[in-house]
Amino acid sequence: MESEDENLKEYILISGASSGIGRTLAIRLSEQHNVILHGRNLERIEETKRACSKETSHLIFQFDLQHYDKVEKELSDFVIQNKINIKHFVHCAGTLKMLPLKLFTSEMMNSIFSVNVFSAALITKVLVNKRINKTLKGIVFISSNISNFGAKAFSIYGSSKGALDSLMRSLAVELAPFVRVNSVLPGSIQTEMTEKILDNAELYERLIKTYPLGIGYPDDIYEAVAFLISDKSRWITGLQLTVDGGRTINISG
Ligand SMILES: NC(=O)c1ccc[n+]([C@@H]2O[C@H](COP(=O)([O-])OP(=O)(O)OC[C@H]3O[C@@H](n4cnc5c(N)ncnc54)[C@H](OP(=O)(O)O)[C@@H]3O)[C@@H](O)[C@H]2O)c1
Repeated sequence: MESEDENLKEYILISGASSGIGRTLAIRLSEQHNVILHGRNLERIEETKRACSKETSHLIFQFDLQHYDKVEKELSDFVIQNKINIKHFVHCAGTLKMLPLKLFTSEMMNSIFSVNVFSAALITKVLVNKRINKTLKGIVFISSNISNFGAKAFSIYGSSKGALDSLMRSLAVELAPFVRVNSVLPGSIQTEMTEKILDNAELYERLIKTYPLGIGYPDDIYEAVAFLISDKSRWITGLQLTVDGGRTINISG
């Protein structure tokens, strides 16, 4: 006789699915998978859900990741109550504040690390707990190409992405061979997060010169994520996959 566990419906959890890259990931992944749309703003999460294929197959997990100390309980209850299995986790939620270090308060630093790093670790902790979630197969963290480099006003955001990638590498070793863990490192992608930069004609002109393949789109990140959660990447774990149109290999003067 089949156990109740074997009938659990399988999902991909996408944090930050209410906007930008996460929204595109959700819409494109919904063509072949059931997705859990996470975000803070319910109206915008519902907007993403309406744009998904098979709209009624998907679930919404609304949670403010600033309160990361409560995410373990909230997510555990969500998984158990919905009787589901989360097979993949894509951590796309992220927050950016560009400021010189002298203007950063400890609250701002906490807020960035809460969303970008601590939540990723605590969500993973829930999803690898077999008493809560039957089988997690893969994790993709959406990091940033700043993770391996430096730029003015990026010290805290950049260090949060560096920490996220370091978390990724140790988890890749710790959770092998059952769970593969990788990061995608985007360069500038046209979304709400970057609109202030990209809508400024002068800044845009300066930026575009440094991108051999031009500025990217959320669909470019989707292609990388789709590869990393597929069996085509079955022997890849612990990878930082940079998807930045050649920005970080460009040393032209
Ligand atoms: N755009 C780029 O050029 C670029 C480049 C490199 C890396 N990235 C990374 O890519 C990811 C997505 O960025 P994006 O450009 O798509 O940004 P975005 O359009 O601003 O979307 C950010 C997402 O994160 C969620 N989020 C932020 N704070 C949250 C919180 N406290 N609790 C729960 N959710 C929260 C937002 O949810 P709500 O809308 O509900 O608040 C939203 O869904 C981020 O991790 C970012 O660091 C982006």
